[in-house]
Amino acid sequence: MHTSQTVTTGSEPHELTVNGRRHRVDVPGDTSLLEVLRNDIGDKSPKFGCGLGQCGACFVWVNGHPTPSCDLPVEYVTGEVQTAAGLGENGELHAVQKAFLELQAGQCGYCLSGVMMSAAALLRDNPRPTRSEVAAALDRNLCRCGTHQRFIDAVLAASGATA
Ligand code: FES
Ligand code: FES
Repeated sequence: MHTSQTVTTGSEPHELTVNGRRHRVDVPGDTSLLEVLRNDIGDKSPKFGCGLGQCGACFVWVNGHPTPSCDLPVEYVTGEVQTAAGLGENGELHAVQKAFLELQAGQCGYCLSGVMMSAAALLRDNPRPTRSEVAAALDRNLCRCGTHQRFIDAVLAASGATA
């Protein structure tokens, strides 16, 4: 006869800064940052895709670096978190967000917040990227709708490049 055992991990307080606001959450330390963002903080912009750090749907910035939040335990988050919901400033969308809207670069939209975080990090560090540099920067972001070429067009438009 098989017996089952349930292992419970106790909640503990964790403090983190998301889009400039300080939050305290009481969750087990191995809870993913993605779960904390979506379920405890209420920021639904990062999405769950693979859960394995391989698709980019859940990308946020941790200390400015595009980072999968799905496999990052909250207890290891030591720095500022920024999500796509916090990309704009002073009520204005980020240039990448505007370009994606203007060019209707997305299709279903599920991957877009992760794509935005990669694209915005690229333009912050390299304001005039080449097409191949944009493609490389978005390489870790999978899009099941297959709209990568439109994404690249939008990022180039956001950079001010003319076609
Ligand atoms: S859901 Fe995190 S990388 Fe795929
Ligand atoms: S726009 Fe649908 S998955 Fe990327």
